[in-house]
Amino acid sequence: MKGLPLSLGLVALFALCAVCAQSDIPVQPDFQADKIVGKWYRIAVASNSNWLQPNKLSMKMGPTVITQTADGNLGVVVTHPMMDRCEKKTLKFFKTDQPGHFRYKNPHSGKDFDVRFVETNYEEYALMFISNTKGTDVYSTSILFGRGKELRTELLDKFRNFSLEQGIGEDNIHILPQTDQCMTEA
Ligand SMILES: *[C@@H]1O[C@H](CO)[C@@H](O)[C@H](O)[C@H]1NC(C)=O
Repeated sequence: MKGLPLSLGLVALFALCAVCAQSDIPVQPDFQADKIVGKWYRIAVASNSNWLQPNKLSMKMGPTVITQTADGNLGVVVTHPMMDRCEKKTLKFFKTDQPGHFRYKNPHSGKDFDVRFVETNYEEYALMFISNTKGTDVYSTSILFGRGKELRTELLDKFRNFSLEQGIGEDNIHILPQTDQCMTEA
């Protein structure tokens, strides 16, 4: 029984550390949910998660529409241009105590995701960081959104730098090709 307090301590330490890997990710100060709403285009995506690898060749720019629900959460409609159709997904980001910091639960896999608006000026760009943990592995995805289909080079550089800092390799940073497909979808 002597070892029990120690192992409890270790468990607590590991539990903390699953979060500590992500706790230094910034969130846009004074985040205003009512200003983030509306239509965005996905300009670039970077991820160390393996879902991106098989998909990356076919992934194109697509719209994401954000709405605010009465309870202060965010409704997010993501449209993916596919070969012959527009695939639409509706997500809900649940607010946390920290403005700009949300949680998302994938209804199919049951996985929990940590979602942050790292930086945005609301009118031009938004940098989002999404992470989830599996055991001791942390999967990180960053997404750069633009109000228009093009963004200043400086913002693309900022996105690249941020993604590299999160341990995402250069090969896994993708500027999404533009398409006219599905662009009018809301
Ligand atoms: C990106 O990182 C490079 C190299 O550290 C630096 O020179 C550049 O100023 C950074 N760009 C931005 C927009 O943060």
